[in-house]
Amino acid sequence: MRFRLLTALLPFLACAHLAAQPAAGQGITLYSQRHYPIDRELFRQFEEATGIAVRVEQGDAAQLLQRLEEEGEHSPAGLLVTVDVGAIWEARQRGLLQPIDSSVLKASIPSALRDAEGYWLALTKRPRVLVYDRERTSPEELPSYETLATPAWRGRVAVRSSANSYNQTLLAAMIARIGEQEARNWAAGVVANFARPPIGNDRTQIRAVADGQADVALVNAYYLGLLQNADQASVREQVANLAIVFPNQAGRGTHVNLSAAGIAKHSPHPDLAVRLLEFLTGEAAQAALAENNHEYPANPRVPWPEGLKAWGPFKEDLLPPAEIGRHRESARRLFEEVAWP
Ligand code: FE2
Repeated sequence: MRFRLLTALLPFLACAHLAAQPAAGQGITLYSQRHYPIDRELFRQFEEATGIAVRVEQGDAAQLLQRLEEEGEHSPAGLLVTVDVGAIWEARQRGLLQPIDSSVLKASIPSALRDAEGYWLALTKRPRVLVYDRERTSPEELPSYETLATPAWRGRVAVRSSANSYNQTLLAAMIARIGEQEARNWAAGVVANFARPPIGNDRTQIRAVADGQADVALVNAYYLGLLQNADQASVREQVANLAIVFPNQAGRGTHVNLSAAGIAKHSPHPDLAVRLLEFLTGEAAQAALAENNHEYPANPRVPWPEGLKAWGPFKEDLLPPAEIGRHRESARRLFEEVAWP
């Protein structure tokens, strides 16, 4: 993996062994759902700048929340990081977070991307989009999520399992926007249009379009960015003809999910957690996340890199997180009812 915009780090790398020996207690443990190489690079930069060691425990949302709950006040977790707004909302509901007090964070992150009572904030924005092949399909054929459920798309849609939180949060948002009955009809229509039973992750769906097994993939935009910028030339070539549609631009806008973070209720060092959050929402880290992981900055002062500019501006559908949260259970039930595996 090549990193961009991080050349400023190079002078520090030679003395990285010094940063590996911070003062006793100067460390923070993250419980993180994120699994991207740029995160490790940013943590290394934070360690080098502050002497605060960052330790990362990865897991899915259910695992991390359960660990926090079971460990209680003995938990080593300083910060919880999720890839889904529903997961951070649930952590707050279950009493696993504490309010964050930082005027820096309030200035960096707009209120629409923060919990109203300060329990968490967004790190990045992640639109869920449609990916198609320019040679086989025109973007006008894909105006909306609703299109995926129409007869014209029978046997042509690639999308991952409903066990995935990105799909659950999208359907929860649709319930909030168009009502449960319409959302159920939509999910049933998409199931009827599957190119094949859901397998794999978002990358797998994009590859299915590239291979001609499907004509449209419903995925988070950054996965196309990652494939288009992959180290291996063969991967870049495979996806060279693919492009993005931001659906529902004529209506409510494209569904945007959030990667978010909150300070664990029993964080051993909330002050260190705040420092790491201030770093991750600062302009350098936000620019690196956008440039390398093709996520949209939560800090509006950070300009979009060329890659995101090339996809163009779009109208976002950003619901109040409580709206997503309260429809999550219904979304899971609807998926089961329509037999979306
Ligand atoms: Fe992801």
